[in-house]
Amino acid sequence: MTRMVPLGLVTLCLNIVAPVAGASYDIVKDFAGSSFFDDWDFFGSFDNLTNGDVNFVSASQAQSSRLAFVDSSTNHAIVKVDNTSMVPFNEKRNTVRISTKDRYAVGSVWVADMVHVPFGCSVWPAWWSQSPNWPTGGEIDTFEAVNLAPRSQMGLHTLQGCTQQNPTQSSTLINSTDCNHDVNNNQGCIVTTPSTASYGQAFSAAGGGVWVTEYAETGISVWFFERSSVPSSISGTMSSIDTSTLGTPVANWPSGGCNMDQFFEAQHLILDITLCGDFAGAPAVFSQTCSGVCYNDYVIGSPSNYDNAYFDINFIKIFGTGGNTVISSQNNAAPALSIRPLAVASFATFVYAIGTVL
Ligand SMILES: *[C@@H]1O[C@H](CO)[C@@H](O)[C@H](O)[C@H]1NC(C)=O
Ligand SMILES: *[C@@H]1O[C@H](CO)[C@@H](O)[C@H](O)[C@H]1NC(C)=O
Ligand SMILES: *[C@@H]1O[C@H](CO)[C@@H](O)[C@H](O)[C@H]1NC(C)=O
Repeated sequence: MTRMVPLGLVTLCLNIVAPVAGASYDIVKDFAGSSFFDDWDFFGSFDNLTNGDVNFVSASQAQSSRLAFVDSSTNHAIVKVDNTSMVPFNEKRNTVRISTKDRYAVGSVWVADMVHVPFGCSVWPAWWSQSPNWPTGGEIDTFEAVNLAPRSQMGLHTLQGCTQQNPTQSSTLINSTDCNHDVNNNQGCIVTTPSTASYGQAFSAAGGGVWVTEYAETGISVWFFERSSVPSSISGTMSSIDTSTLGTPVANWPSGGCNMDQFFEAQHLILDITLCGDFAGAPAVFSQTCSGVCYNDYVIGSPSNYDNAYFDINFIKIFGTGGNTVISSQNNAAPALSIRPLAVASFATFVYAIGTVL
């Protein structure tokens, strides 16, 4: 396959944000409680990104069919797959994909505290981020898992030239180190989370947990804490975070192997749940933990297949340094040089990337 993007274009996108000097960040955005859903875009289309058998509903549909709502008893945000409808053959099941209206630039940290993540045969949830010009500007996957897999994974997807080199990380489960979307069917540079409480029934059985993603000039790091080991500095009332106090991250991609200003741009943060598709539905992947046929036996099968296909979110908080972290949706005009999306569907085998360009 030919390279999609001449490198000369990339160098024009160099970031103007000052380098991150310290590891302390102040809160810039709190997604929690009754206003949780205020500043997200709902996709409102079928899954044309990863070939999942779903319709990502609009904001009004999500509200009327209660697929995205704030639970009045817990004040938590729920994002879920439709588990009440029978879906006729050849049709798709409703679910949700939301993306922050604002983008967050280098020098930011996002913290997601959840008590339940979606799981089950055919289910492919993710908490991740992406630049509007993907693959230019990169993708950061904090939490991604499929079906009944025992663990979730973390990873990056970029243009050619970004690799994971000399990481300081606790996970030894390294699946791949080349982040280039154009090799290995866009597998990306993937690290699997060692904890089996990072996904599935075990996640909620442990009381849920917290993911912390640091997008810094020095590189990208992701921490995962099961509930019992969440640092006391992380709470619903925290107003700052110092990542130097969090210990060794589970996964780390230092800038030595991946120049942040060259491969990453300000990110939209995304929560989504798709079904089957390029990753969960790939027969070789699906058969690892599930039996039957992904679409026939699950998507159009009993709606109760999806009773566990929901995020239950305590909060998502974004932290930044200086004044340049938040790129407001008011200023989100398309750049002069935009790159065409990849035709993901043309890959002969499955791909691992969660999405192409919006
Ligand atoms: C997917 O659908 C959305 C909404 O209709 C559209 O804006 C976008 O261009 C589509 N993306 C691709 C890769 O076809
Ligand atoms: C990644 O590696 C781990 C450990 O070897 C393995 O259990 C897991 O299945 C791999 N993930 C993928 C998506 O291949
Ligand atoms: C659907 O899933 C929810 C959890 O999100 C559960 O409370 C409910 O009982 C399930 N079944 C129906 C029919 O709503």
